[in-house]
Amino acid sequence: MFLLLLTVVVVLWIALFRFRRRRMYQLAAKIPGPSEELPILGIAHVLAGGTDDIMKTLQRLSYTAMEHDGILRSWIGYILYFLVTDPVDLEYILKTCLEKDDLHRFIRNVIGYGGIFAPVSIWRRRRKILVPAFSPKIVENFVDIFSQQSEKMVLKLTDYANKGPVKMWNFVCTYTLDSVCETAMGVKINAQDNKDTPFLKSMQIILHLVCERVFHLWLQPDWLYKLFPRYVTHEENIKVMHDFTNKVISKKREELKLEKNRKSEVDHDFDIGNYQNQTFLDLLVRLSGGEHGYSDVELREEILTLLVAGTDTSAVGLGYTLKLLAMYPKVQEKVYEELREVFGDSDRPLVKEDLLKLKYLERVLKESLRLFPPVPFIIRKILEDVTLPSGRVLPAGSGAAVSIWGLHRDPKYWGRDAEVFDPDRFLPERFNLKHACSFMPFSNGPRNCLGYQYALMSMKTALTAIVRRYKIVGEEESGPVPHIKSKIDIMMKALDDYKISLENRVAS
Ligand code: HEM
Repeated sequence: MFLLLLTVVVVLWIALFRFRRRRMYQLAAKIPGPSEELPILGIAHVLAGGTDDIMKTLQRLSYTAMEHDGILRSWIGYILYFLVTDPVDLEYILKTCLEKDDLHRFIRNVIGYGGIFAPVSIWRRRRKILVPAFSPKIVENFVDIFSQQSEKMVLKLTDYANKGPVKMWNFVCTYTLDSVCETAMGVKINAQDNKDTPFLKSMQIILHLVCERVFHLWLQPDWLYKLFPRYVTHEENIKVMHDFTNKVISKKREELKLEKNRKSEVDHDFDIGNYQNQTFLDLLVRLSGGEHGYSDVELREEILTLLVAGTDTSAVGLGYTLKLLAMYPKVQEKVYEELREVFGDSDRPLVKEDLLKLKYLERVLKESLRLFPPVPFIIRKILEDVTLPSGRVLPAGSGAAVSIWGLHRDPKYWGRDAEVFDPDRFLPERFNLKHACSFMPFSNGPRNCLGYQYALMSMKTALTAIVRRYKIVGEEESGPVPHIKSKIDIMMKALDDYKISLENRVAS
């Protein structure tokens, strides 16, 4: 009797749930879904594997979306997403749907309301405070730090040259972490001297755990997650990340207390000249109003945002570019020739003026970011029904998954050779995007990446340092289309940790 009653209650509850969302079901049915979709589960079963399988599935679904005019409906259980690859529709979504999807709650547990994942109401003020800190005048002053840290990386690599394959992941991500810590907070954490830097390890564990929660429905309810052993790991690693940033902030507060005449400047025009040679942390404290501005928690959230947004992303960009240089030696030779033109026989460190001259290197980097975008997907929340320029309607309560990965490989916009690695497609005379959003590794619209110039400078500096000293060797790709097995840990990462070999270059 009890069982019968329970069944009736459950059936009624489901019927009511579906009735309330009937408009969502009607609109969803108008957009094609993938062939593997099952009743109730949707595509949850094809996302149940490891993060490498998930990446493969998302790539496959992106191709299916391209076949369906740039959009694909995907139910993950009761949650509705639309995977979008069409740049015209995407531009509209990125401009009008600024709220991040509910799945971001898992990363918010870690970094709170830091700008990148914050609800729009909080994000607006935080972005306003952060924008001046990323002005080109400030960022270009960081090139000396990138240059010093790159030299350090190259030195660390000496022990591995001419000795067979080396996994570059640890080298590139300790380089980006050291650079971000020095520029963002003014602290030298010397991660490059300690490959097991606790903050870095914890951040990577957390990104992996968060990604699993995003795709595995059974890990999503908080009460259930607490029953899994990984919950303890999750909490321990959050603590390591918070302790690290708290320590840095309290040190900075002490430093700033010694200075006088601080005033709130958040709502004034910023005189960038006054802020040159300062770290982001100095700027955030000052620009938010000094002692009366950001609380310690808010500062921690913003600094964690910069660490999470700036470390792995640039390291991934570097890693894929190094692999591509190994796969295509002729491209690498052209990069080296350009470096010889700029630096000659000298081993002087790179300065900011050099970066502008490295035009071919920049094309290689952009082509790498096109084919292997470090952030392959972005998810935005659909708060109200959205009619896209293509006429399709995304219902309120669903999510729009922007497939940067798919967008960058769409033959409709990149031609029949869309999958081919061809840096010269970025030559000014050839680069003629049919739509501005066809290339957007750093996203587009009001919530785009604030660190894109910073990232490009940091990656170009590091690549310069490596290619000047070492010839990068690896398995050459047999054709023009590069294949690199990857996984998704929020960022996309190569499965082999960017294994290549390095040979000392003999200056000719
Ligand atoms: C190759 C390197 C990088 C890539 C591919 C990248 C990509 C992205 C993407 C796709 C977004 C999300 C935008 C959206 O939701 O529409 C983003 C946001 C952001 N990135 Fe980057 N990023 C990189 C490096 C950096 C660096 C080095 C920093 C800082 C040091 C940085 C700071 C930020 C910030 C603060 C946001 C949040 C912007 C906002 O919501 O207002 N990024 N980035």
